[in-house]
Amino acid sequence: MKVAGEMYESIWLDQNDNTLVGIIDQRRLPFEFKTINLGSVEDIYNAISGMALRGAPLIGAAGAFGMYLACLEMTKKTLYRDHINNAAKFLASARPTAVNLEWAINIQLEKLNGIQSRDEMINISRETALAITRGEVENCKQIGEAGLPLIEEISKKKNGKAVNILTHCNAGWLACVDYGTATAPIYLAYDKGIDIHVWVDETRPRNQGSRLTAFELGQHGVPHTIVSDNAGGLLMQKGMVDIVIVGCDRASANGDVANKIGTYLKALAAKDAGIPFYSALPTSTIDRSIKNGMKEIVIEERDEREVTHIEGWLDNEIVEVGLCPKDTTASNYAFDITPSRLISGLITEKGIVDASIEGINSLFNK
Ligand code: MRU
Repeated sequence: MKVAGEMYESIWLDQNDNTLVGIIDQRRLPFEFKTINLGSVEDIYNAISGMALRGAPLIGAAGAFGMYLACLEMTKKTLYRDHINNAAKFLASARPTAVNLEWAINIQLEKLNGIQSRDEMINISRETALAITRGEVENCKQIGEAGLPLIEEISKKKNGKAVNILTHCNAGWLACVDYGTATAPIYLAYDKGIDIHVWVDETRPRNQGSRLTAFELGQHGVPHTIVSDNAGGLLMQKGMVDIVIVGCDRASANGDVANKIGTYLKALAAKDAGIPFYSALPTSTIDRSIKNGMKEIVIEERDEREVTHIEGWLDNEIVEVGLCPKDTTASNYAFDITPSRLISGLITEKGIVDASIEGINSLFNK
């Protein structure tokens, strides 16, 4: 997608030096647009755990590139197999919720299985990382195509009046290499000339909504309004939301969805107000080893400082200020789980399916 008129994806292999992986430093947005180069497994680990990059599909792509860098780091003295397995474990531990990380690392391990030559391992892991990245771009585009009719139908029913879409966190192109998951139908609808407007939840504590989603939508020209996280229920009660579309970090075999903290409350409000609530995700975000998402998905807990403090832009730099009494303790659950019964459907690259065992199974039989 475009930033200041120039096309970007949120991760790439440097064209002049293919030992470097480029990313947009999402910790600086929307205040500064800065790219950084990652040249080691440790760099990738730090970028994921420190959230210079974030969002499930992007974390997966970064994990795949991390495995490529691990192959480059192998020396004659290292036992290749041990080195690769250790790197895989290390990278997978960077963040727990987005299953795309394990998924991409496992694809790399399978492709590298049985290969003896270092050069061959480097070539295979590089091509695999590039293929995973391209695959996620294609998936997101197809998610857009699958979700577009939902918006078109509402627009028709409203005789062309603006369709109001509410989204939470950032499930946009920044989080997904390109197009985004939740935003893909939004971008396609906008590009088709459909009148749309997006309510952007600010998404405390890290404000991925007001910092990243608002940045993306603004760069593309999509009309949007940031709202505080608590406003969604009121907007829905007042008929100011036509559809809710959120992303997903891990969906279970029964269609429960782990997504940014606060998603569940939006789903509850949408159910009460009779508003369709969809989660958009590539099948790489489905973890069929988890039978019951409500009971089994591990929720990441992050530093309480993200809750007790907030970042902003002052005098040309990012500053952090305190928000509460100095000795107060805070808890910081980064995700919650929305049970399948509150979800109208899952928008995937293979079409829209029910959030249920049958719906999920149908995706893997296609
Ligand atoms: O902690 P983050 O920013 O990595 O969390 C990402 C999300 O929860 C997003 O909302 C998104 O839905 C999943 S990524 C497309």
